[in-house]
Amino acid sequence: MPRPKKDIEKNNKDATTKSGRGRKKELATVTGMKDILPQDQAYWQKVRAVAQKAADDYGYGLLETPILEMTDLFVRGVGKQTDIVDKEMFAFTDQGGDNLCLRPEATAAAVRAYIQHGMLNQSQPVKFFYAGPMFRHEKPQSGRSRQFYQFGFEAIGEIHPALDAQLILLGWSCLNELGLESTVQLNSIGCPECREKYKQELIKYYKSHSKQLCESCKKRLLKNPMRILDCKEEGCRALRDEAPQILDYLDEECKKHFMKVLEYLDEINLPYVVNPYVVRGLDYYTRTIFEYWSNDDEVGKSALGGGGRYDGLVEILGGREATPAVGLAMGMDRIIAKMREKNILVPEMKYDIFVAQLGEPAKKKAMALYERLRSIEDLHPAQAFYKDNLKSQLEVANKLKVKFTLILGQKEIGDGTILLRDMDGGIQEVINFNDIEEEIRTRIKKYRTSKIVSLASGDEDELSDKKAKRKNREEDGIVAGEEDDQEHEVIEAEEHYDDLMGGEDSF
Ligand code: HAM
Repeated sequence: MPRPKKDIEKNNKDATTKSGRGRKKELATVTGMKDILPQDQAYWQKVRAVAQKAADDYGYGLLETPILEMTDLFVRGVGKQTDIVDKEMFAFTDQGGDNLCLRPEATAAAVRAYIQHGMLNQSQPVKFFYAGPMFRHEKPQSGRSRQFYQFGFEAIGEIHPALDAQLILLGWSCLNELGLESTVQLNSIGCPECREKYKQELIKYYKSHSKQLCESCKKRLLKNPMRILDCKEEGCRALRDEAPQILDYLDEECKKHFMKVLEYLDEINLPYVVNPYVVRGLDYYTRTIFEYWSNDDEVGKSALGGGGRYDGLVEILGGREATPAVGLAMGMDRIIAKMREKNILVPEMKYDIFVAQLGEPAKKKAMALYERLRSIEDLHPAQAFYKDNLKSQLEVANKLKVKFTLILGQKEIGDGTILLRDMDGGIQEVINFNDIEEEIRTRIKKYRTSKIVSLASGDEDELSDKKAKRKNREEDGIVAGEEDDQEHEVIEAEEHYDDLMGGEDSF
């Protein structure tokens, strides 16, 4: 049923009505959800770029599915008894009476798209890559939010174990590329037939020890007994050592498939551990399942990603019988948190050159010049055309740490020239206005080459020392002496410009 209009109005009103102290309640992000601010984007862009490169290398095409899906897709796909569907869905009835939800994961949606667009008629497997937000109404805590981001890969229509191994490698190498050391925790939960036999044994075992189980696992015993193996509670963990293990219940075909996956992984020297207690929290899995645990996370408290085979899901969602599939998803929030924890730095957007101007005619000319510079490939010019004062423009240039600043004033317009200031030494040269592009190209190229050469010729220590010092400075604010230096350089530039302007105080 659609929510009555009155209700919506009441909620909107609540968000701005007075709080206990008589002040208006602030409109903030919803619990468990966060803004990703511009200053944090470098990490997100880096993670996306690594994932995109892996997708391109392995031939996974980008799939974008809606954030809203029919609730039934996940009830049937992920499973009614899973925590995700049972407790964590952001589900609602829309104005038209449809039962919808914010997607809690993307695998079921990828399979829906595969079926809906008749992709079983294409050459198999069909390989999807995706990246975007997922929503689960979990208790917000470290590594667990209600809106979080995943990137993932799904290969639908192929059963070969080489594909399992390749996907496992793909996720691991993304983490590796980002500087994170992880180990693959690997298991096989067989097909529904071997699993059913195993589940009966497991229930028998846990029933005889039910008093030692935590409250949640007592409920799991009836609904989802394999999840008990995954429980982080002390008592439940102690019990699992004696519990029957799924690997002993695999039939010949499932065992053969698993052994093949291990063989491929051995061949590529991938660090993995066969872990019979990894069970995953989604019902669609068959055979191979895996998680990526950071090497400093021994119990898998905060897996960086996970996945597995789901050979029955296409059929469950109305597609062709026995269509095999395998995939994985990585948690971007957790990956970035781990990168920060490990002090892994990512390159930030770096500007090369700043365009400064003095006086209205120069501002107009500089705006056009900036557009010309912007069209030079691989050059990142910056500006602050909203400022009139040269000093404050040079302060912006300093903050952006550009190598050069171009300064255009009335005099230069008359002369057909422009000032080029090297921000490292403060040296200024007059160059021909028409030669700017060529000059800039040459100088930036030379500057970049000199940086590479100094790195290659063993100045790394000096550079990393400089980097560390700069980091400290940024954390502490600029140290006093240096602030003076910067101030001095700016004053010098002003004086220099004054001289060139014939001593006129133009700002
Ligand atoms: P999942 O294990 O539910 O699998 O999620 C994958 C990853 O998403 C987790 O390992 C974790 O890093 C991250 N994640 C999950 N929930 C949260 C949360 N509340 N807050 C922050 N990060 C979270 C799936 O979603 C499957 N669809 C994976 C898959 C793809 N299997 C086959 N294909």
